[in-house]
Amino acid sequence: MPGPDRIEGYAIVSADGMLADATGVQPDLLRIEADQDFFHGGLAQADAAAHGRNSYEGGPQAANRPRLILTRKITALALALARKNPNAWHWNPAGAMLDEAWRMLGLSGGTLAVIGGTDVFGHFLEHGYDVFYLSRVPNVRLPGGRAVFPGVPAQTPEDLLASHGLKAGAPRTLDAKTGTTLIAWRH
Ligand SMILES: NC(=O)c1ccc[n+]([C@@H]2O[C@H](COP(=O)([O-])OP(=O)(O)OC[C@H]3O[C@@H](n4cnc5c(N)ncnc54)[C@H](OP(=O)(O)O)[C@@H]3O)[C@@H](O)[C@H]2O)c1
Repeated sequence: MPGPDRIEGYAIVSADGMLADATGVQPDLLRIEADQDFFHGGLAQADAAAHGRNSYEGGPQAANRPRLILTRKITALALALARKNPNAWHWNPAGAMLDEAWRMLGLSGGTLAVIGGTDVFGHFLEHGYDVFYLSRVPNVRLPGGRAVFPGVPAQTPEDLLASHGLKAGAPRTLDAKTGTTLIAWRH
């Protein structure tokens, strides 16, 4: 049984490429309504989400959305009982392939939405994205914060996306007041 046909990443970052501040909290300055609409619209089209233990999309559909929660606290795959979601699985990629995790979700083909944080975005950067949607709020800086990928800020998110074979589309303004833009980076 195959894994997902398509892997999409979704992130909103500060000018210096951060997802969250130095305490690990995503500040309200990185919550832009048009970006949230885009993000939740994308998730609604996806068959499942993947994220780390400290990330969660929220919203009315989240409770029942099939999901893979990455963790190193298990060896491979285990039902995430505490989530009260019959289709939430803990997954350690070091112990089980994505195809196997996808099969646990009862899926064959379809779209996986990867929603962070740092190491999860980094894991799938190595695995391969079909598209990575990178939103940026240019007037916010979060020095010492949680980066979108391991290797930021020594390298920019754009350098890393490009060095993994993704090409930038045209920037789209999501929010004129904050200058927030969205670029789709496609394989
Ligand atoms: N701005 C954005 O677009 C965006 C997106 C996502 C998250 N955020 C924010 O960023 C903050 C959290 O970021 P974070 O990077 O600390 O959290 P995270 O990725 O949600 O959680 C980190 C945990 O996930 C597990 N994990 C990550 N990579 C793994 C891998 N390759 N294999 C196995 N397990 C793995 C580990 O869990 P164990 O400790 O259980 O082993 C790790 O401690 C939150 O404030 C969140 O709201 C922002």
